Amino acid sequence: MNDSTVHLDRLPGESLDVAKMPGHWLLARLGKRVLRPGGLGMTQSLLTTLNIGTDDDVVEFAPGLGVTARMIIDRKPRNYVGVERETKAAQWTVRQLPKRSNIAVVVGTAERTNLPAGSASVVLGEAMLSMNVQTHKEHIAAEAFRLLRTGGRYGIHELAIVPSGIPREHMDEINRALSSAIHVGARALSTQEWTALLENAGFRVIQTGHAPMHLLRPKRLIQDEGLLGALRLAKNVLVDAPARRRVLDMRRIFKRYRQNLSAVFLVAQKP
Ligand SMILES: C[S@@+](CC[C@H](N)C(=O)[O-])C[C@H]1O[C@@H](n2cnc3c(N)ncnc32)[C@H](O)[C@@H]1O
Repeated sequence: MNDSTVHLDRLPGESLDVAKMPGHWLLARLGKRVLRPGGLGMTQSLLTTLNIGTDDDVVEFAPGLGVTARMIIDRKPRNYVGVERETKAAQWTVRQLPKRSNIAVVVGTAERTNLPAGSASVVLGEAMLSMNVQTHKEHIAAEAFRLLRTGGRYGIHELAIVPSGIPREHMDEINRALSSAIHVGARALSTQEWTALLENAGFRVIQTGHAPMHLLRPKRLIQDEGLLGALRLAKNVLVDAPARRRVLDMRRIFKRYRQNLSAVFLVAQKP
């Protein structure tokens, strides 16, 4: 299937009301395929730091529409397993990947993958911890730790509230505003808190990087989706008034809090 063709019936959330559906599936419906705050640039940094090679057994939490999965497969790991809780997203990802016995996508939750302990040398997940409550974040980090062998690497790419140390009430206000715009419970953390999450699970954080949270800025849209993809997205937004209202709402909140929103990636190692 050609990824640029819009098959609404195949997309996650296709049956949901545009006014209420989660922001990431709304953007997917409009043609967006890169659904993480730091864009493809930050994904490249994450993958470069994780240094995935032919000896690696990789588990990706929440592959979404399979964009990073494809980039991982290009690096020819020994094995790739995606664990995605939305059946339609898992099916979409499967369609993006070569049909080989060392590549699998399973429907499941990152908190409890049912994959064997010590079966991975690399675990990664993007834009998924931010939408999980603190206890689920902790379970997901613990599951990454369980899956990894000693020396294995865990990479995350998430939304951060910056700078570290801003008052809790202000962080709560930002998360409330984000949640009401994207219609998903947003629980972004400060970089310090992301670091603590991984350290408390037993990891040693070895690298951290930031990028602007420009998910809906024109330049980033072109970088992530290509010129044609960005134009198609713009056309889809123009012709769909309810979707346009949602996108403008999201942009307004991202703009209002632009000084306090950042994409962050962390790479940690299991000692
Ligand atoms: C914002 S999208 C990001 C998708 C993709 N990682 C990307 O960056 O483009 C969030 C994804 O996380 C998945 N997800 C959220 N929580 C999850 C969990 N606990 N286990 C598995 N998948 C999860 C959602 O189904 C969705 O596909």
